Amino acid sequence: MIITIDGPAGSGKSTAARKLAARLALPYLDTGAMYRAIAYAALSVHVDFEDQAALLRIAQQVDLQLDCGPTFTRVRVDGQDVSEAIRSMDVSTVTPYVARCQAIRDLLVQRQRQLGQALGSFVTEGRDQGSIVFPKADKRFVLEAGLEARAQRRHQELSADGEDVTLDEVRTNLCARDRVDSKQWEPLLQSKNAHLLDTTHMTIHDVIDHLAAEVSNTPR
Ligand code: DC
Repeated sequence: MIITIDGPAGSGKSTAARKLAARLALPYLDTGAMYRAIAYAALSVHVDFEDQAALLRIAQQVDLQLDCGPTFTRVRVDGQDVSEAIRSMDVSTVTPYVARCQAIRDLLVQRQRQLGQALGSFVTEGRDQGSIVFPKADKRFVLEAGLEARAQRRHQELSADGEDVTLDEVRTNLCARDRVDSKQWEPLLQSKNAHLLDTTHMTIHDVIDHLAAEVSNTPR
């Protein structure tokens, strides 16, 4: 069984995908981690992030290994475990430069399909999983949430990670990202016949219950 969960930053898709995978005892594929890993590799060699050819060379040369467990995708770049390092603000800031390079997207989409084939059954999460990468998945979800709910969730996550940032700053940052992202992600999130879920007023438990109920109603 293949389940795709797509959505913008703060929609709750990462937590939902991890918890749903754990509940169903399926491997979890975090595709954002792949874009982040290339950004991490590019940062370590001080590449110019406007130089798409240089970014592509890094994406082609780097040894990127993913280990998909039910609650976590462990990521190695050239043998080094970068699973935590790729979550830093520095990496988050430059990852969109990697994600907007179409040749890198093509490379990673191919990689995701290979990983998917090896895994067989899995929950995958990203922006394009239901629309581009696995359009024939058994269940395709797109999560969304209003700005205020997304800002509050993101603020809680960052505070829990020890980042000293105010809710206002997070909201402003999300607004700016929404403006940049809307052109790029909205078309990718338009997944025909995907199940759309607005999580604005839902707790994560409600979201998981809803997704799990939808999955159990899906013919296999
Ligand atoms: O979901 P995330 O924050 O880890 O994603 C990191 C970046 O990668 C973000 O800029 C969106 C991009 N991304 C993408 O282009 N395609 C995906 N399938 C997943 C993430």
